Amino acid sequence: MGMLKSSVAFLVLAFAFFFCYVMSSGSYDYFQFVQQWPPTNCRVRIKRPCSNPRPLQNFTIHGLWPSNYSNPTMPSNCAGSEFKERKLSPKLRSKLKRSWPDVESGNDPRFWEGEWSKHGKCSEQTLNQMQYFQRSHEMWQSFNITEILRNASIVPHPTQTWTYSDIVSPIKAVTQTTPLLRCKFPPKSQTKSQPKSQATSQLLHEVVLCYDYDALRLIDCNRTAGCGNQQAISFQ
Ligand SMILES: *[C@@H]1O[C@H](CO)[C@@H](O)[C@H](O)[C@H]1NC(C)=O
Ligand SMILES: *[C@@H]1O[C@H](CO)[C@@H](O)[C@H](O)[C@H]1NC(C)=O
Ligand SMILES: *[C@@H]1O[C@H](CO)[C@@H](O)[C@H](O)[C@H]1NC(C)=O
Ligand SMILES: *[C@@H]1O[C@H](CO)[C@@H](O)[C@H](O)[C@H]1NC(C)=O
Ligand SMILES: *[C@@H]1O[C@H](CO)[C@@H](O)[C@H](O)[C@H]1NC(C)=O
Repeated sequence: MGMLKSSVAFLVLAFAFFFCYVMSSGSYDYFQFVQQWPPTNCRVRIKRPCSNPRPLQNFTIHGLWPSNYSNPTMPSNCAGSEFKERKLSPKLRSKLKRSWPDVESGNDPRFWEGEWSKHGKCSEQTLNQMQYFQRSHEMWQSFNITEILRNASIVPHPTQTWTYSDIVSPIKAVTQTTPLLRCKFPPKSQTKSQPKSQATSQLLHEVVLCYDYDALRLIDCNRTAGCGNQQAISFQ
């Protein structure tokens, strides 16, 4: 009897551990590959300005985020291996300095560590650290958003605005899938002196491409856009 009890206890415990492991290892459906427009990052930071007062005029990587269709905020901060810079080859590190710079405070490895801890760990079963950063860099290289937009005459401009579909169409034409745009509103302190028409326009901030579970094949993004519906978008 005692033995039965202890083996039941063992099973319960084993199951509990297994359950915890499954929960913390994170499950996801697809990836969001998020690129940002550094001037917008710096524009909306008013308390602590960007370390480089002349932000890059290139879309750069924000992160590669394993994502869940049914629960948009998950997964994040999963259990997994700690970030180690030495797991990235010197060659990869120098590539990432171009594609994935910390445009806000200039501390690239700390930015990579933050993205790995919050997101990368949740897909470690698919991409280990080296693969996670390598694949992200390849994604950045395979579609040059800055150039796609420039080819469609969408270039930074102080007053011109575009519609959501003006910006999405050329990207869609090249990638053959639907991306997602995210915008930010300029801080109030910067818009007071501007004419009303300009003050209300949102700034293009991020372009998201979606990839399948293996991070190999592009798929349509179908989340709600992060830009105000039907509102003019400015790109500065
Ligand atoms: C998505 O999140 C929900 C709620 O946290 C979870 O039950 C489900 O297993 C997740 N699905 C996938 C595929 O990650
Ligand atoms: C954009 O990135 C490319 C590749 O690293 C670089 O050659 C170019 O100078 C960058 N352009 C700007 C405007 O920063
Ligand atoms: C992307 O395109 C921009 C604009 O044409 C160019 O400055 C940049 O060097 C390109 N980046 C890469 C990695 O080729
Ligand atoms: C931009 O246009 C040039 C010239 O037509 C073309 O060679 C290049 O492939 C285009 N770039 C992209 C990213 O579509
Ligand atoms: C997005 O696509 C996935 C996969 O086809 C589907 O499961 C999900 O319900 C879709 N979500 C929305 C909001 O359409």
